Amino acid sequence: MKGIILAGGAGSRLHPMTVAVSKQLMPVYDKPLIYYPLTTLMLAGIREILIITTPRDQPVFQALLGDGSQWGLKLSFIAQDEPRGLADAYRLGADFVDAGPSALILGDNIFYGDGAGRVFAEAGRSLTAERGAMVFAYRVADPRRYGVVELDVAGRPLSIEEKPAFPRSPWAVTGLYFYDGQAPEIAAGLRPSARGELEITDLNRAYMEQGRLGVERLGRGFAWLDTGTPDSLLDAAAFVRTLEQRQGFKIACPEEVAWHMGWIDAAALQALAESFGAADYGAYLRGVLAAG
Ligand code: G1P
Repeated sequence: MKGIILAGGAGSRLHPMTVAVSKQLMPVYDKPLIYYPLTTLMLAGIREILIITTPRDQPVFQALLGDGSQWGLKLSFIAQDEPRGLADAYRLGADFVDAGPSALILGDNIFYGDGAGRVFAEAGRSLTAERGAMVFAYRVADPRRYGVVELDVAGRPLSIEEKPAFPRSPWAVTGLYFYDGQAPEIAAGLRPSARGELEITDLNRAYMEQGRLGVERLGRGFAWLDTGTPDSLLDAAAFVRTLEQRQGFKIACPEEVAWHMGWIDAAALQALAESFGAADYGAYLRGVLAAG
């Protein structure tokens, strides 16, 4: 299974913070925003990842993430010349996915919950001929800001709408999607919506109309946070800080995840820790190594 992170877009709701710097490089407490979706894919067992960004930001993402080999990953990058909507990821990423299954995650979505990696890895494995796509629904107080899915009593999707004025349910569709190898072909047939974008919701609806969309509800023990506005960015940082300070564990630390997944050895983790010099982050990594 391959992964795609969408880290393009203008981030206009965060201006002036994002006038010169990508939204997905904004700090969320102690690390850049993109670390959160990146480690979500890693925890799902995904190591080969395409990062879609803008021509302006691509060199900065490359400076931050390199080729991923330091974390046992294989990262590649594509620049999207202009924002055309989320489903454009499968036009740009068609060669990368090469007709195989893939996960797409939005670069500004933060997932947190005990066993989240297991849940997502299982979702990826659940794709079959009968179930070509798998998405997650999360109960929110204001569903009008999101894609909204309506489910029947058996949990099957009845309707899926993008930012409806009158939502049929409180279930938002989160920004993590698993698709079979047909996603590029279906995406190629989509037409721009009224707001001029290739909507991920239209891709999901195409799978639903084929009777091949699975929806899993993430329960109240999960946190799904978005970071598109100054307030939600600050709320996410406070959430991460609260848990990290209380437990002494970091959330979304790629070095630690790579180590726990067995993708890097002790010498590699030691070298990564040393590369941070006197920063607290390096001390944390030395602690992870000492704990075994
Ligand atoms: C996008 C999708 C929406 C989804 C949301 C999750 O909206 O279009 O369906 O619920 O991400 O974060 P955007 O945040 O781009 O407005």
